[in-house]
This record gives sequence, structure tokens and C-alpha cells, in this order.
Amino acid sequence: MDHYEEAASQVVDVFASEGISLTDRLVADVGCGDGIMDLGVLHKARPRTLVGFDLNLTDTEYLRRQARQEGVDDSDWAGLRFERSGVGRLPAEDGAFDFAFSWSAFEHISRPIEVLREIHRILSPEGAFFLQLWPFYFSAKGSHLWEWFPEDHHHLQRAESEIVGELEGSDLKSADWTKMMSREFQHLNRITVEELQRSMLAAGFAVRRVELMTSPVRLTPELGRYSWLDLGIGGIKLIATPG
Ligand SMILES: C[S@@+](CC[C@H](N)C(=O)[O-])C[C@H]1O[C@@H](n2cnc3c(N)ncnc32)[C@H](O)[C@@H]1O
Repeated sequence: MDHYEEAASQVVDVFASEGISLTDRLVADVGCGDGIMDLGVLHKARPRTLVGFDLNLTDTEYLRRQARQEGVDDSDWAGLRFERSGVGRLPAEDGAFDFAFSWSAFEHISRPIEVLREIHRILSPEGAFFLQLWPFYFSAKGSHLWEWFPEDHHHLQRAESEIVGELEGSDLKSADWTKMMSREFQHLNRITVEELQRSMLAAGFAVRRVELMTSPVRLTPELGRYSWLDLGIGGIKLIATPG
């Protein structure tokens, strides 16, 4: 219910705080995953069209089942569809969308600058983009493996091979989930907040508002070689316009 209610509401509210209503507009979600958040945005804001893009085409049968399980009306899909995107390519015309958002996806994207350029390309010049990224790789929960390793920054204090070995040998969670999370951990892009700032500019965006999510850091000797900014900034929410 988190994504249907809370994450979707945040998307709608962040745009609203900039004086933007998504109602009756053309909206894209980049890295949409299972799509439950898109159903939330659809029901809360009533965009004319909402397209969820992902490398793996969203499974709408699974989404319907998930919606039913969560007590969400699964018959109300008018305007929502899903498309498969390429690694650095969004299958859409230039300027096809009024607004775009991306939630908890950018640390998984192997070529972030290319995807940012694509988002810039598919937005109308008067459009806006909301990006939420959590967690950055070098931050406390950056490994995404908190179910197995609850300690903050655990992944910066041991070799990656050691972590993968321990993870894959664990029977704490199902074998499929463990394998999937092991693969995710090894493919995170490790972008930092400074690199993201440079990438946004390189892609042609003007960032209008930034909110950093920070937390205290317990500095061990192993963490001494990392930047305090990277250790302490867990995530970011920003609003940008195409220029
Ligand atoms: C952790 S999931 C987040 C999904 C969803 N936004 C959410 O919050 O539940 C990250 C998603 O990004 C997708 N992804 C990774 N690289 C991508 C790319 N280049 N273009 C589009 N989606 C991508 C993955 O397939 C995955 O579904």
C-alpha cells in the first residue's frame, strides 16, 4: 500500500507544490517497476495519459492481482499503459509528455545521463520532471540489502565478493528474491549527489528545487576514505524543467 498511497501522493503533491496539476495531462514514469504506484497516481490525479516505462515490461496481470490484494479498484485503468524501454532509450516522440517522474529507479539505471537526456527529449519545453532517488550507493542503506545486513554502510566495510557470498548462502528469504537482490546489489550505478547534479545539467535540465535526505553517520576507520556528503546523503527529491 506504501507505493499506491504514499509514494503516489508524494508525486502528486510535489508537482502541486510547484503549482502543477497532473489532471488531464500527459505523464511518464521512468523505471516504473510493478506499476502499483502508477495506479495510485492515476487514481489520485487523473492524468489523461500515464505511461510507465521500464526495461522489463510491467506485468499487468500481476499488477491487477496486487491491486486486488491491496483492496484497490483494479477496473479503473483509463489512460494507463506500460511500455518497454531500452537501456538508454525511451520509445516516445520528442516533446510527447507534459510531465515525467522517476521514483527509486535512478540508482539502478546503468546509463543515467543517457536516460536523463531521453527524459529531457520526451518532455515538452514547458514540462517538468520530478526525480526521487533513494538510497544513494555510498549512503547508509545504499546496498539495498537491509533485510540481510541491517548495519548502516555495511557494504563499504567489506569486500563485495564477501557480501555476495554470505548473501547467496543465506536462507533468510526465498532463493529467487535473494538471487534478484544479489544481482541488483552488483549492478547499482554508484552515482553520487555531485555526479547527479552534473548529469542533470549535462542533460539540459534546470533544477528548480532540491530536497536532500540526510542522516547522522557513525564514522569507523573503514569509512574514513569516503566523502562525508556521500556517506550522509541518503536520497534526493528534485524538480527540474527542460531548460
Ligand atoms: C527498484 S525498481 C523501482 C520501481 C518503481 N519505480 C518503484 O518505486 O516501485 C527500479 C526499476 O528501474 C528499472 N530500470 C533500470 N534501468 C532502467 C532503464 N534504463 N530504463 C527504464 N527502467 C529501468 C528496473 O527494471 C526496475 O524495475
